[in-house]
Amino acid sequence: MQKSEYPAFIIPTFIFMKRLVILISGNGSNLQSILNACVSGDLPASVVCVISNNADAYGLIRAQNAGVESIHFPKSIDETRQQYDARLANYISSKLPDYIILAGWMRLLSSNLLSVFPNRVINLHPALPGAFPGTHAIEHAYAAYQNGEINHTGIMVHLVPDEGVDNGPVLTTEIVPIYKDDTLESLETRIHQTEHRVLVQTLKTITKT
Ligand code: GAR
Repeated sequence: MQKSEYPAFIIPTFIFMKRLVILISGNGSNLQSILNACVSGDLPASVVCVISNNADAYGLIRAQNAGVESIHFPKSIDETRQQYDARLANYISSKLPDYIILAGWMRLLSSNLLSVFPNRVINLHPALPGAFPGTHAIEHAYAAYQNGEINHTGIMVHLVPDEGVDNGPVLTTEIVPIYKDDTLESLETRIHQTEHRVLVQTLKTITKT
């Protein structure tokens, strides 16, 4: 009998794809860039769940539109931050993620969650390392430029090893220029466009390993 040119079975490529859980709190434009890149095949990964601490986050709708499981996961008033994080970690674990991406997640995570996923929690922040941690980073950079304190800003993607705010081993940074005629809105747009590209590029690199 002639030997078949084809293997007896073909292992679907999605079995090898990295599983991403994305945590959001708001608009979810960075989530959208990840979803788009997964659909186009540019990012060989699969978003297995989108979690928001905020019921009104538009990113939940984006996930639903993409046919991805989405869940509002609020902190209840009778639990501590640590208890919430442990409960969240349990839920995330049930999705068997390779990476947890904080794409506009605006809650500090404690070691009750971070220790469950060492080197697997990745944060996006709209400023360069050490500059403007926390909320309203773009507004702070814009004001600092107006005061002559900086002449550019940037973005970064980094690992989250501990409870430090927007701090940890840097995976990628990119400088974003600020121009004299920038408004806050035009700077925000440039930063978000940069984030969308750089976040996907960074995930492409790390999901290869
Ligand atoms: C992004 O600019 C992200 O860098 C920032 O929230 C925004 C979310 O936008 N994250 C932080 O400031 C974390 N400290 P999106 O919801 O449209 O993706």
